Amino acid sequence: MLKLFLPTVDSTNRYLLEHAAFLPHFCVLRAGCQSAGRGRFARNWVSPVGGLWFSLLLKHFPLPRNVIPSLLALAGLDVLEKLCGKGFWLKWPNDIVFSTGTPSADGKVAGILGQFCGQGEKGVLVVGMGMNINNAVPGKLDFPAVSLRDVCHQHREVVPVYFALLEAFQENWNRFEPGAWKRRVRQKSYFHGGERVSLHCALSEKRWEGTLVDTPVEALELVLDSGESKSFQAGDVRKVRVERGSSR
Ligand code: BTN
Repeated sequence: MLKLFLPTVDSTNRYLLEHAAFLPHFCVLRAGCQSAGRGRFARNWVSPVGGLWFSLLLKHFPLPRNVIPSLLALAGLDVLEKLCGKGFWLKWPNDIVFSTGTPSADGKVAGILGQFCGQGEKGVLVVGMGMNINNAVPGKLDFPAVSLRDVCHQHREVVPVYFALLEAFQENWNRFEPGAWKRRVRQKSYFHGGERVSLHCALSEKRWEGTLVDTPVEALELVLDSGESKSFQAGDVRKVRVERGSSR
């Protein structure tokens, strides 16, 4: 694994996509900070010094491409649990949240952006992860952000977290088995079947609310209040508080 570092760059995802032709499979780029970090749905990702911002370039796909971001998220979860203990969950599709059971206090610790460029065998996948470690997080987000420092009340060195994460990802990649992967995703899921959630699609600017059919793994299935079932491949999901005494 070739490991590159830049003290500052606009976006590690953008850099790897632009230089993919000259870089090897499994090359990783970490940045001290990003001046134009990118999030899902073309949002900004605030990336000051103190956080972990990196991307991985993949050129060969011995395993299904759509599971790769989740292997990185699971690697992140394992590392965070070892460092700080319980409370970290996989928020569909690939966020890591810290939650102790009070949804209003839950916060996003890490997010993943996968970008595929090209076609078929010749295509390259860049998977970038942003993890709030010691940095201040932006306020006023649709789903609140938290840093590891906020939840563990301790300063953590970024580089050991990064190396542990890469090792855990490589292990997940080498040992990938669909059944075990699905079980692990279900076991660590922040959402469960029967829960009431809302899903916002930033591209279409539409919002849906309904009940989860099952714990989401690849797709998320909702039964809307109209009784219609709908399956989603992407979106921003959050739990909806059900008032006591409500008939829903
Ligand atoms: C999300 O919206 O939750 C995904 C955020 C992904 C951020 C990371 S930081 C490293 C890499 N470079 C980027 O520009 N984005 C990803």
